[in-house]
This record gives sequence, C-alpha cells and structure tokens, in this order.
Amino acid sequence: MASLQEQIHIHEQEIKSFIPSGAADLENYRIRFLGTKGIVKQLSAEIKNVPPDQRKEAGQMLNAFKQLAEEKYESNINLQQATAVKTPEMDLTLPGTPLPIGTRHPLRIIENRIISIFEKIGFSVATGPEIEDDWHNFTSLNMPEHHPARDMQDTFYVAQNPDWVLRTHTSSVQARILETQPLPVRVICPGRVYRNETISARAHCFFHQCEGLYVDKDVSFADLKQTLYYFVTEMFGEDTKVRFRPSYFPFTEPSAEMDISCTVCGGSGCNLCKHTGWVEILGCGMVHPNMLTNFGIDPEVYTGFAFGMGVERITQIKFQVNDLRLYSQNDVRFLRQFQGL
Ligand code: PHE
Repeated sequence: MASLQEQIHIHEQEIKSFIPSGAADLENYRIRFLGTKGIVKQLSAEIKNVPPDQRKEAGQMLNAFKQLAEEKYESNINLQQATAVKTPEMDLTLPGTPLPIGTRHPLRIIENRIISIFEKIGFSVATGPEIEDDWHNFTSLNMPEHHPARDMQDTFYVAQNPDWVLRTHTSSVQARILETQPLPVRVICPGRVYRNETISARAHCFFHQCEGLYVDKDVSFADLKQTLYYFVTEMFGEDTKVRFRPSYFPFTEPSAEMDISCTVCGGSGCNLCKHTGWVEILGCGMVHPNMLTNFGIDPEVYTGFAFGMGVERITQIKFQVNDLRLYSQNDVRFLRQFQGL
C-alpha cells in the first residue's frame, strides 16, 4: 500500500487540477475531501501508522494538504456566490446581438471593377509611394524642370525636401515599373493622387486614378483602342459609344482623350454630359520615345501605350454622384446606399 506521503501527493494533484463545473460538482468535492468521512479525515487517521521518526514531517504535510483542500473549496464557493448574484439566470441559447455590417466605399467598388476588367486581359496590379520624388513624378516622364506641362498639375511640395512631391498622378508608378521590371510589362496602377485645387463639388485636393501601361514589341495604337473599347463595353455596356479626341500629354505621343456616350441620357443631353451627349473618361496615348530611353529601353525595338482615368469620374457616371466632396465626408447616409455592392 502507498505510504501516507504518497497518498497525500496524489490527492494534491487532483485538487490542483480540479475545476468545478457547477454547484453540484463543488458539493461533491466538499463531501469527497472535507466531509466527515472525507479524504482529509481518512488520511489524518493514518498518521498513527507512520513510523515515529517520519511522523513530524508527515504531520506537516497533512496540515498543508488540509489547507489546500479547504482553500480550493472556499475560493470556488465565493466565486459561485458572486456570479450567482450578478447573473441570476443566463439563457445561453438566446441569439447574440448582431454587429452591423459596414459597406464598401463606392470608389473602392469601382476601383475593384476596373482592376478585375483589366486582370481578365492579362494586366497585373502595381502600386507605389504617394510621396514621390521629382524624377518618378515628372522628369522621367518627359517633363524636365521648367517644362510648361508641369503647370498642368498643381503640385503639393513636401516642405522638408524640395525634391519630394505628393504624386500628382499614378504615372509615377509606371515609371517605377519601367525602371525595375523586365519587358514586356502590362500593369494597371490604382491609387490616390494629390493636386492643389480648391475643394468644391467638382474638384478636390486628392482623388484616385487607375492608370495602365503596356510595353512590348509591336504594340500599336490599334491595340490601345481595342483595349479601351473592351474596357468601356465591360464597364458601361455594349451600347456605349466611344470617341477619341487628339490631346496633349508630355509622356505620350500621339495623345488622345476618350469620351463615351452619356450613359445617363443616352446622348440626348443632361447635366452629366453638359448637354453634349458625351462624357470624357480618360487620357491616353503611345508612350513617348523619350520616356522609354529614360529607362534604357530602345524605342526602335519596343513600343507601348498608356492610359489614365479618374476613379471618381467613373464612379460619378456609374452611380450619379454629383458632388466630389461626398466621397470623403464619410456620411453614413451616403455610404449606406452602396450596401451589398
Ligand atoms: N497621367 C495623366 C493625368 O494624370 C493621365 C494619362 C496617363 C494620360 C497615361 C495619358 C497616358 O492626367
């Protein structure tokens, strides 16, 4: 038979790991350890069988064991009484309080749609920093210092460093791609851009763009047009008409702006199209040879196209939002309208 010391040891382990599952369980514990015929009493009775030279040590162990058994009971009974007062009857089968689900921001909804349209034809997504250096935002894009085209975009400069700007377009990401990626490249660059404009219904100091770049051998203007026709059909539907107007961007030659037939009035004239039947949605063109040479690419071998659109503009057309400020005011009455999209 196990010695008294061994028995104490085994029961100690049991007490230490005991966690009552309820009042009845704790009562069983009390009877088992502290009852009149309980383990503490039984072991105390055995002290007389311990050899006299070990009795003192065994007695101390027994006292400590008794204390442990009592403390365990006391602390649990206190806990039970405390919780019994606070939560008289808790029905754990009741349903929980539902947390309201947020909505996607309309700009994000449209950005996601633009991205997935281009992903289907092999474009991948590229991003870059919003604080940009002069080289990636301007100079490498065929806009050297004092180039008049820099005035087309009212730039925010970073006070600490005159070489840093808040990027005025995501063409800066295209520059970074040409600098680092092996050809061919086919990327779409979504992101926030900044321009020093007075905030009004029609202008904001920041907005969002999605720009695209495709550089490979034998890329032609016909490829550009076909890609953009495909985009318009996917985004606005097959009946949408498209027209290109010649334009100017320093980093493309030739350059164009693309209009679509007004999706609100179908061309008969409304506020969105300013009664012209057409709305401008993007700028585009063939990548300027100077830009390719800036990145060590031979324009005799490689050609490419680029385009850039404002995400707010596309969202305005899709959802008929007529005030740009709504996008950043975070008014839940506005945002909730896009639930589930
Ligand atoms: N970066 C131009 C802008 O912000 C848009 C653009 C991109 C035009 C690519 C042509 C080609 O206005």
